[in-house]
Amino acid sequence: MKFITLDEVDSTNAEAKRLAEAGQRGPLWVRANYQTAGRGRRGREWVSVSGNLYCSGLYPHNGSANDAAKMSFIAALAVAETLQTYIPEAKVNLKWPNDVLVEGKKISGILLEGGPDWFVVGIGVNLTSHPQDTELSATHMLDHIEPSLLSGPEPIMSGPDAVLAILASRFNFWRDMFLDNGFAPIREAWLNGAHNIPGPVTVRLSNETFSGDALGLDENGALRVRLESGTIRDVHAGDVFFGSQGA
Ligand code: BTN
Repeated sequence: MKFITLDEVDSTNAEAKRLAEAGQRGPLWVRANYQTAGRGRRGREWVSVSGNLYCSGLYPHNGSANDAAKMSFIAALAVAETLQTYIPEAKVNLKWPNDVLVEGKKISGILLEGGPDWFVVGIGVNLTSHPQDTELSATHMLDHIEPSLLSGPEPIMSGPDAVLAILASRFNFWRDMFLDNGFAPIREAWLNGAHNIPGPVTVRLSNETFSGDALGLDENGALRVRLESGTIRDVHAGDVFFGSQGA
């Protein structure tokens, strides 16, 4: 696996896309200590102070756009497993479509972008700090590590490079699983980590908000929601709030 480390860049996703447009297909990972124009989902900004992990994987892709979209579930699983190696006692959960929560707070963000025969999976993980005043409350990894463990003979956390090494290897594991066995094992593992499903949910789309019961994922990763009327709606994109949050 090839790793490119930069001190500062506009966005690791933008950098990985430039590499793709210049003919590279990866697999490779770009990591930067600091991003000047970190991007989030739906045109939002991703605040990028140094100390946290900002990285993007570039991979070849010869499947459908639907298959590329499934890579964000793979990334979320890889992030959750990576966090669990550092903070095994903490409650790590997955929130549709691709957020990772620690003790109910957002710790990571995933932004998937694609070309005709490649995709870039951008991953931010809060390690040493998290932004304030976010819509969903946030946290960072260091906050869940016992201070006494940080000064022992074996360092429990050794910076974003070490975290990326584990993350990239878990991403490759689940991507290989997908290439060999399809989405079913990914869907099952993801649902195991998503403890709010089944459960009440409010979905906010660009032009409407509705509530119902989240039942699970369809075979493409859409969130299956049963409305009060009994109608089932498959949600392909949107913001999801559990319980009465965001209603
Ligand atoms: C979200 O809105 O939750 C997704 C945030 C994705 C942020 C990561 S940080 C590394 C990569 N580079 C970017 O500009 N964005 C992604």
